Amino acid sequence: IKNIGILTSGGDSPGMNAAIRAVVRASIYYDIEVTGFLRGYEGLINDDCMPMDRKSVANIIQRGGTILKTARSENFKTVEGRKTAYENLKARKIDALIVIGGDGTFTGANVFAQEYDFPIVGLPGTIDNDLVGTDFTIGYDSAINTVIDAVDKIRDTAESHDRLFIVEVMGRDSGLIALRSGIGVGAEAILIPEANMGVEDVLHKLEHSRKDKASKIIIVAEGDDAGGAFKVGEILQSKYPHYDTKVSVLGHIQRGGKPTCMDRVLASRLGVSAVEGLIKGERNVMAGQVNKEMIYTPFDHAIKHIDAEKVSSTWLKLIDILSF
Ligand code: F6P
Repeated sequence: IKNIGILTSGGDSPGMNAAIRAVVRASIYYDIEVTGFLRGYEGLINDDCMPMDRKSVANIIQRGGTILKTARSENFKTVEGRKTAYENLKARKIDALIVIGGDGTFTGANVFAQEYDFPIVGLPGTIDNDLVGTDFTIGYDSAINTVIDAVDKIRDTAESHDRLFIVEVMGRDSGLIALRSGIGVGAEAILIPEANMGVEDVLHKLEHSRKDKASKIIIVAEGDDAGGAFKVGEILQSKYPHYDTKVSVLGHIQRGGKPTCMDRVLASRLGVSAVEGLIKGERNVMAGQVNKEMIYTPFDHAIKHIDAEKVSSTWLKLIDILSF
């Protein structure tokens, strides 16, 4: 391996910059050149790139977002788009890629790697934590800390006004942000797509809840079947008009901000592992951390959404025990 291309793709996540820094510094350490592509796969197709050196990644470990920018590329889903990308890589003599992103990023990487027999290693960069083959994804810890910071503030005002708050957090197809942050804020109920719960379940819980506590927080994952926080709010308000119900959608604040130390260190370790993996001959895998060990998981396995272990009945029971 002589020249690695690097890109960030899909939704950004805090810690992506720390991962870029680690990849660039590890490559230089092992005498490999690095080319940074802008806006994910769009950069490959448009040949929009720049050489990267030690200095180009200085002073970014603490910054949210991604200095390489990101996009969800529709062109890369086409045969022609991928062909152009391959020709551009060949012309630049780039012989391997490191892609940082989530399931969409790895789905694209998997198709491309097989079509052109091109070595790619992925790094899990998504706030959703919904990949198999890593205990945590880069950005998840920062995002859940942003959520608990926001919900702690909501709790203050909820308590003062005796209000019921429905708070929607991100996670289009995954409830892992809702699950962990919900436990962290002491939510009274959590609605996530992985569990067979519904508004009925929340109604049941409210009926059996402590009568001496009027303020309550219900965390709803964006992707839950209940249809989002406003829908849940409407149903609860109509069923329990005596509750003063408010809805708060946290939105994209969850994707920004300084990465936590956990995310910086995870990104740093994984970035170095990705480069070392390519050198050792790893291909078409995601580098992940499981039980403190660095492991590599094939893309098609990493993108299998629901990790049953992550959303086990133990977690759901924990919520039942602790709420109300
Ligand atoms: O995949 C990360 C994520 O933040 C999801 O949780 C969310 O549903 C989605 O991205 C939002 O994407 P966008 O910023 O394109 O609206």
